[in-house]
Amino acid sequence: MPQNTPEEIDPFIAQLFAHQHDSSHYESALAEMQAASLPEINVSASEGMTLHVLIRAVAAKRVLEIGTLGGYSALWLASALPANGKLITLELDPKHAAVATANILKAGLSDRVEVRVGPATESLAALERDGIGGFDVTFIDANKDGYVDYLDYAIRLTRVGGVILSDNTLTHSALDPTADTGITRFNRKLAHTPGLISAVIPTLRHGIDGLSISVVVHK
Ligand SMILES: C[S@@+](CC[C@H](N)C(=O)[O-])C[C@H]1O[C@@H](n2cnc3c(N)ncnc32)[C@H](O)[C@@H]1O
Repeated sequence: MPQNTPEEIDPFIAQLFAHQHDSSHYESALAEMQAASLPEINVSASEGMTLHVLIRAVAAKRVLEIGTLGGYSALWLASALPANGKLITLELDPKHAAVATANILKAGLSDRVEVRVGPATESLAALERDGIGGFDVTFIDANKDGYVDYLDYAIRLTRVGGVILSDNTLTHSALDPTADTGITRFNRKLAHTPGLISAVIPTLRHGIDGLSISVVVHK
C-alpha cells in the first residue's frame, strides 16, 4: 500500500479539525501576511492546531512566544487562552510586528496579546529584569542561531512544571552528527540540560520537521 506523503497528510489534518476553530481569522491573517510580502515561514495550520491543543491541555494562562512574524501562530496560541490569559510575543522586525498587531486586533484577541518589538535577547532580558516570568508555556520560533540563548531565557522564564516548545528542530542538518548549526547546538543542549525532559513531535509540511516539547521538571 502506498505511503501518504507529508504534503497530503498536513492538509488532511488541518481540514479534519478546521470546523472546531474560527478558520476565517487564520485565513484572513495568512492573506494579510501575503499581501504585505512577509516570508511564508509561519507554522502550518496543522501545527497551529497542535500548539492550540497543547496550550489547552496544560490549561496555560501565561504564554511567551519568541518569533511573531505576522501573528499566525500567535492567533492559535492566544485563542486557546482563557479571557484573563496573556500572550507576550517578541518580534525583531517592526513591519512583521505591525502586520501581527493588525491580525490580532481583527481576530478580537488584542486584550490578551502584547507584541514587543526588538531583538529577542533584549526583550527577554527586559522581561527578566522587570520580574515578568512564570510562563506556563514558552514557544521558541525565531532565528535558529539564537535558539541556544533563547533556551537559557526560556528555562528561567518558564515555571517549574511548565512547557517549552521549540519549532523546526528536525531541520537544518539536524540529523548530521558532524554538523554545527544553531539547531544541532540547540538539540544537544536540549538533550543535556538537567531539569528538562524532552521529546520531539515530527511535523509535516514541505517534508518532515519537528516540534520539540520540554517539561521544566526543576531548575
Ligand atoms: C519563523 S518566523 C515566526 C513564525 C511565527 N511563529 C508563526 O508561525 O506564525 C521567525 C520570526 O522571528 C523573527 N526574528 C528573527 N530574528 C529575531 C530576533 N533576533 N529577535 C526577535 N525576532 C526575530 C523574524 O523576523 C520572523 O518574523
